[in-house]
Amino acid sequence: MSGDYQLVQLRNGSQTLFSASYGEKMHPGLGPMAEAELLYVRQLQICKRLKSTAEEFVVWDIGLGGAANAIALLRATREITGRLRIVSFDNSAEPLAFAQKNAAALAYPVGYETQLAELLENKSVTFQSGNLAATWEFHLSDFPELLASWSSRISVPRSDKLKLELPSTPHAIFFDAFSPAKNPAMWTLPVFEALFRTLDPARPCALTTYSRSTLVRATLLLAGFFVGVGHATGLKEETTIAANSLNLLAEPLGQRWLERALRSDCAEPLREAVYARTALSPATANQLRKHPQFISPS
Ligand SMILES: C[S@@+](CC[C@H](N)C(=O)[O-])C[C@H]1O[C@@H](n2cnc3c(N)ncnc32)[C@H](O)[C@@H]1O
Repeated sequence: MSGDYQLVQLRNGSQTLFSASYGEKMHPGLGPMAEAELLYVRQLQICKRLKSTAEEFVVWDIGLGGAANAIALLRATREITGRLRIVSFDNSAEPLAFAQKNAAALAYPVGYETQLAELLENKSVTFQSGNLAATWEFHLSDFPELLASWSSRISVPRSDKLKLELPSTPHAIFFDAFSPAKNPAMWTLPVFEALFRTLDPARPCALTTYSRSTLVRATLLLAGFFVGVGHATGLKEETTIAANSLNLLAEPLGQRWLERALRSDCAEPLREAVYARTALSPATANQLRKHPQFISPS
């Protein structure tokens, strides 16, 4: 929707984007710069992981929006010698164009205007970011549809995937859609199952999101991820980190969380793009109890 975005000032004085159609602000807690750096870049230990790999480090940036998370990633990694690929997804280019136009007021895009312009124009930009060789792609599409089309092809041999133009599989994922209540299509169990299927089991990958809701955590667990407690940010005392390897989680959810989830009146994953608050069904509760994260080794 054109004209959907406007600037709003947060309590701490920083400016952020507000979407009228979703009725939500981006990075409402600490503001774009601080929240992107703390919740996404630092929480996923990207600098440490990037330094210790010789291969190209791939980050999926789901919900590119005004690119605060992607730019925080670029700023944090400038001193590292290596290769970084950011694979961004959004079904609208409007917030990115808005951020580019309002770079001075938002502050965080300043210095990246050329890259944003090229990304908007060509959907891809390759550049030197300090010591780092960076490639940034923008997939302008409905993310659940795109994932469904890829995951139906995921069983083909790996060598053929290049021909099918699947993007590089990620080492890290920023999951930053609007909230499940306002943007339910992005938070369904089929979406996270398809996302999990696109991961390479041999490539440890961690995902972070601002939501700490029982529903989102149960959905990630049922999709196959291990799930842990994430750092606090401005408005939230906890966020969520998930991974395909338990080693990437500092504080995995344990039995206490499971017991609370079993009693919660809002824990059943969304099966379709309609938000609903319901307790876990007996079948889902059983599946959760059997998740390897909750089974202690005998
Ligand atoms: C909270 S904002 C992202 C903020 C962004 N990460 C940043 O750092 O500026 C959520 C984004 O998700 C996008 N989105 C919502 N539904 C989507 C869908 N079905 N497919 C792809 N992107 C979607 C919105 O257009 C919006 O830009």
